[in-house]
Amino acid sequence: MIRVLGIETSCDETAASVVALDGGAAPEILSNVVLSQIEEHAAFGGVVPEIAARAHVEALDGIVEAALADSAVSLDEVDAIAATAGPGLVGGLIVGLMTAKAIAAAANKPLIAINHLEGHALTARLTDGLDFPYLLLLVSGGHTQIVAVRGVGDYQRWATTIDDALGEAFDKTAKMLGLPYPGGPNVEKAAATGDAGRFAFPRPMKGSAQPDFSFSGLKTAVRQAATAIAPLSDQDVADICASFQAAVADALGDRVGRALARFRQEFPDQAKPALVVAGGVAANRAIKATLEALCSQAGFAFVAPPQKLCTDNAAMIAWAGIERLRAGIADENTADFVPRSRW
Ligand code: KG4
Ligand code: ZN
Repeated sequence: MIRVLGIETSCDETAASVVALDGGAAPEILSNVVLSQIEEHAAFGGVVPEIAARAHVEALDGIVEAALADSAVSLDEVDAIAATAGPGLVGGLIVGLMTAKAIAAAANKPLIAINHLEGHALTARLTDGLDFPYLLLLVSGGHTQIVAVRGVGDYQRWATTIDDALGEAFDKTAKMLGLPYPGGPNVEKAAATGDAGRFAFPRPMKGSAQPDFSFSGLKTAVRQAATAIAPLSDQDVADICASFQAAVADALGDRVGRALARFRQEFPDQAKPALVVAGGVAANRAIKATLEALCSQAGFAFVAPPQKLCTDNAAMIAWAGIERLRAGIADENTADFVPRSRW
């Protein structure tokens, strides 16, 4: 039996979780406590690093206590403490990693510093027991990447954004249209009553031989359309949102389709190829539907872990700790590890 306490503080969620793995059985999330700071940041239209760091300081001890209490596992029974050490906002990373180090030292347990992206990358093995290799599409407020997940600690980035992250494009679009933060869910809601054919927004990078994403041109097109017809009625806003979302889904589908073909070429022995989605934007139904259709056409399984485990949480960090312990590579990043805002 392996039990790991995970801690996540890299952005605006303060989270702690205990995950257990008993031999060949399916892993078990014994607790998963997430405190979102959305309300603290909403008034500012985005995450404010100083507010985030202070909120983590205030909340983390209680969140860790709650995660241990929920799991009915004592600190003594935990095998290791895993904490996000980057990438992310440095204030939050310092709070999380220092707290984890203090707990590890006091309880005489090993500390495992985890890369946040590794947490997202390995979640599908926690929820769906996927075998390596598989393809990951990570679309959040801070990241837009396609990664070939080949093994624990063995990740190959095939595509990234050359400008804005996709969630950021949703958030900025929402802001331009006067919709509240966080923008993604509000853009999706407005799009539901809009005409996606009204504005012919660009599909950045579509058809390009380069694998990367780009969204800033699309954002500019949205701004120009909004300025041209201001003041905006509710219907205008809905139409812009629907047209924006259609452009995003189309552009994303093109980029992902390319990656699926590459995956087939590079991993011909994987009889059950899968595309995993992670990150807050993966909640978007239009995007999900596009990706699902693409996968079914290409013969890929489409794996979307439950939303609670797709967005930032500590169960994925605890799980990454278990994966590292099991793979015998947990001692690469130990207690002398310093936070890395870029990693
Ligand atoms: O993964 P996440 O919760 O946090 C990090 O960025 O790490 O992702 C948040 C992002 C925000 O940009 C938010 O606007 C976007 O995910 N998002 C959505 C939807 N729900 C959340 N974007 C589009 N459609 C949604 N339904
Ligand atoms: Zn994340």
